Amino acid sequence: MAEKLPLAIVGCGGMGHRHLYGLAELQAAGLSPFELVGACDPNLDNANSLADQAQERLGTRPQPVADLAALAALGEIQAVDITTLPAHHHTVAIEALERGWHAMCEKPMGLTARACKMMIAKARETGRTLSVAENYRRDPVNRLAKALLDAGHIGTPRLMQQITMGGADQMLISVWRHQKNASGVLLDVGTHFSDIMEYFLGEAETAYAQTRLHEKTRKNPVAGTDGADSGPAGVYGRWQKDMPAEFEATADDAAYATILFKSGAVAQYIEDHAAHGENRWQRSIHGSQGSMNLPGDRSGQRLTLHRDGADPIDDQALLDLVPDFHLDDATAALFGGDRLYEYSCPFSETDRKLIAVEYHELGTCILEGCPPEVGPHEGARAVGLSYSLMESQVAGQALSVDAVCDDQHNAYQAEINDHLGI
Ligand SMILES: NC(=O)c1ccc[n+]([C@@H]2O[C@H](COP(=O)([O-])OP(=O)(O)OC[C@H]3O[C@@H](n4cnc5c(N)ncnc54)[C@H](O)[C@@H]3O)[C@@H](O)[C@H]2O)c1
Repeated sequence: MAEKLPLAIVGCGGMGHRHLYGLAELQAAGLSPFELVGACDPNLDNANSLADQAQERLGTRPQPVADLAALAALGEIQAVDITTLPAHHHTVAIEALERGWHAMCEKPMGLTARACKMMIAKARETGRTLSVAENYRRDPVNRLAKALLDAGHIGTPRLMQQITMGGADQMLISVWRHQKNASGVLLDVGTHFSDIMEYFLGEAETAYAQTRLHEKTRKNPVAGTDGADSGPAGVYGRWQKDMPAEFEATADDAAYATILFKSGAVAQYIEDHAAHGENRWQRSIHGSQGSMNLPGDRSGQRLTLHRDGADPIDDQALLDLVPDFHLDDATAALFGGDRLYEYSCPFSETDRKLIAVEYHELGTCILEGCPPEVGPHEGARAVGLSYSLMESQVAGQALSVDAVCDDQHNAYQAEINDHLGI
């Protein structure tokens, strides 16, 4: 490959480190168009930690800096990967785009629909790439499910059930994930599910929901321990051990929703991060000729196809039904095949492979001028659909998802927008 694109990771916490591991995975596969030159975080301990680990994994040490001005002073940045807290996504992305840099931004794209609209406008104005790092749909098993759906193997989709229940009163990864002004769980996790529902069923039309804040006091079991290897990909423990053992939650933690899609399909959507007793996971899609049960994202497990009058299929025969199904080149190289119905790796490896795929796509978009799969429109829709649930609760009625995306229903988000000063 010719000259590498100089890149900086902005936000060097848990996901910043996980993105570094993804970049290293891409480099090890010989597919990285990037050279990591900057590690940016106002918390310089975090920036230095990422730079040290980059030295080990990439063989070069990016410059740790505290802000984008210091990054610009390096004089060579072409792209930034934004893995900051969600409240900073719009400010960092907008400043980066104004500086002429391309950007990939972690989900949720912005903290509110209004923040997303500002990012969309800036991406349009500058003509730079703004990609949203949405990883769930990139899972090879979700790619296969989409191919089977598009080929009509369950007929016309009628009902999707997306149900996740568990969590009780435990902290989910970090304190900020329970705080409304920083991004509650229904946004943090919900954007993934909003994206995957629209990926499978097309754009949502209306949403009605009851949302709740059930667990007003959350508990952090890692507080005061040595914090080793806790949280997704084992990277969060060193921060979690210093977080409080108990704290007040301010963001809604459960949503019970009905979503109507423009296609006429309906989703029954339950996202309850405060559920006690039995944990539940279900993702299924019923259509006019069959149904599909889908496994957890990043699990590598198989999906099962049920069609009237036939035995369920969960193996190689799934691939025979979609002879034209092929994963993109980077996914195929990283996961070891361009036609997969399952894969087997530890979570941390799957995690970095999917992040590697996101980086590869970003590089292609920058070099070839093509739009990302999850760009500003798709990223903002996932945020808008997630907030449609909380806005519906406040409004006491079903709301147009387009109108929430357009910031026309924002009573729940008003306090957050005030907090952001937008
Ligand atoms: N796609 C996924 O599977 C997934 C998983 C985890 C987190 N995320 C997303 O990644 C983002 C970061 O989450 P996290 O778990 O790493 O949080 P974190 O709290 O571990 O890290 C956030 C980091 O951002 C830094 N930061 C804050 N303001 C900044 C600024 N203005 N400039 C630069 N850095 C700044 C903080 O100092 C901290 O180091 C969130 O948007 C989150 O939703 C995505």
